[in-house]
Amino acid sequence: MQTLTNKRILLGITGGIAAYKAAELVRRFQDQGAEVQVVMTKGATEFITPLTLQALSNHPVHLDLLNTETESAMGHIELARWADLIIVAPATADFIARMALGRGDDLLTTLCLAAECRIAIAPAMNQAMWAKQATQENCQHLLDRNISIFGPEEGLQACGETGVGRLLDIDEIVIEAASLFSSNLLTGVKVLITAGPTREAIDPVRYISNHSSGKQGFALAQAALEAGAIVTLVSGPTNLDPPDRATLVPIISATQMYDAVMAEVADTDIFIGVAAVADYRPAKVQTQKIKKNPAASNKSMTLDLVENPDIIAAVANSEKRPFTVGFAAETDHLIEYARKKLEQKNLDVIVANNVADTAIGFNSDNNQTTVLWENHVEELPMMSKSNISIRIIELISERFNLASQ
Ligand code: PMT
Repeated sequence: MQTLTNKRILLGITGGIAAYKAAELVRRFQDQGAEVQVVMTKGATEFITPLTLQALSNHPVHLDLLNTETESAMGHIELARWADLIIVAPATADFIARMALGRGDDLLTTLCLAAECRIAIAPAMNQAMWAKQATQENCQHLLDRNISIFGPEEGLQACGETGVGRLLDIDEIVIEAASLFSSNLLTGVKVLITAGPTREAIDPVRYISNHSSGKQGFALAQAALEAGAIVTLVSGPTNLDPPDRATLVPIISATQMYDAVMAEVADTDIFIGVAAVADYRPAKVQTQKIKKNPAASNKSMTLDLVENPDIIAAVANSEKRPFTVGFAAETDHLIEYARKKLEQKNLDVIVANNVADTAIGFNSDNNQTTVLWENHVEELPMMSKSNISIRIIELISERFNLASQ
């Protein structure tokens, strides 16, 4: 089974002899289902060519902070947001020192400063450099800031000495990287998630729908799985592959989504409504394609709509009510309207996002949300839907555990 499916890994390579091993690391990450982009320091390019890494990663290699061409293609802030994980392998003593100081004097250190995702380093250097108090103190600073350190391991070094300082075995780095994405926050907990749009048929060829791509709901399903949950994903039509290990229940319309959810709800611990459910559907679905009526005097036609069931409200008010989390898609008065939905629909938590902003919300790869419950408000800055889902699942599991005590 692939352990890094759909993860976006930004591999930073710094200037040490072990830099050549980074080529193999790109491949191993890809074997595990990850998409990899590479950032190289100037020193790294003395040891291995950007062309090699470009060919292996299928992406241009990022080299400069102040290059107008690359910044206009994918700027450094965008690149930092793109990543689910930044891993620097090999990380030299100099890079570790610069990172420990919080410097942003090249592209890689700047990306590490700008990133909201997990960061890991795999140091590789001469054993005496590794043992030096300065290096050890710098590493401690990084650990204190939640940056993971993989290795180094002991063995014969390129300089001919033996000791601790070799880059950790490539397969071990991949295993450690994958383990960063799993937690035991929701082990064995049954999570039911709705995702994507619904389609409300008008006639055999037309329907009413919306712009939901399913990305946010699928990313939450993935994050819940990585937290150890047993996940059922009820989804409207999307172009996405469901996460491995999630049970997918495909539906088309809001009433089908309602039926699928209500069939599961009694056996659910946490319900998360991410789907953009159509509030109304045509009162009557025509069995034949509706023809244009050239005789209509005012050149208009009227569709009678009836209200769809409110799925999340039904869940939140069901007899064996699960911990219930809603999403609020708003274009204005974000917090005010979200709080109203939290109360009116009897939810435990609501995640508000501004769908008027095309950089987030519908169909984009990023999101920025405000999570609300009781009297609390937690802002999550803009980041990839994958990363924001990890944060949302952490918040949900905290609230869920408190509620279950
Ligand atoms: O799919 P993406 O392209 O990644 O976009 C993600 C998203 C913008 C769709 C997602 O982040 C989001 O905001 N989902 C909620 C969309 C929505 O319908 O919001 P709402 O404010 O209209 O509804 C509030 C809550 O009630 C939601 O949890 C919704 O699922 C639920 N609802 C609404 C109507 C209805 N009939 N039944 C429901 O369960």
